[in-house]
Amino acid sequence: MSDELTEGPWVALIPVAEIEAEDVVAASHDGHDYAVYECAGDYFVTDAICTHAHASLCDGYLDGHTIECPLHQGCFDIRSGAATGAPATEALRTYACRVEGDMLHIRL
Ligand code: FES
Repeated sequence: MSDELTEGPWVALIPVAEIEAEDVVAASHDGHDYAVYECAGDYFVTDAICTHAHASLCDGYLDGHTIECPLHQGCFDIRSGAATGAPATEALRTYACRVEGDMLHIRL
């Protein structure tokens, strides 16, 4: 199956102006919550909810490419979604993103 069939459409998620440097902000689209990160000039997007329990990573602490969950301090690499620190063990979903005009778009 080609990528065209397995990957969804690009959608506008958040104005680039609302993304804070070296930090994480919340965004939502169609009832789904996302965490949007800026690190060294690059943007990354993951699901907002931690895979360990129900906590928003948007309230977490971003250190380089690592987001630390605010509830139990589990860690994830925002580039791959990989769980990098206990108690998180399940990877976080990540989304391809790109800037178009003044908006950050993600591929669903
Ligand atoms: S809810 Fe995130 S580490 Fe437990």
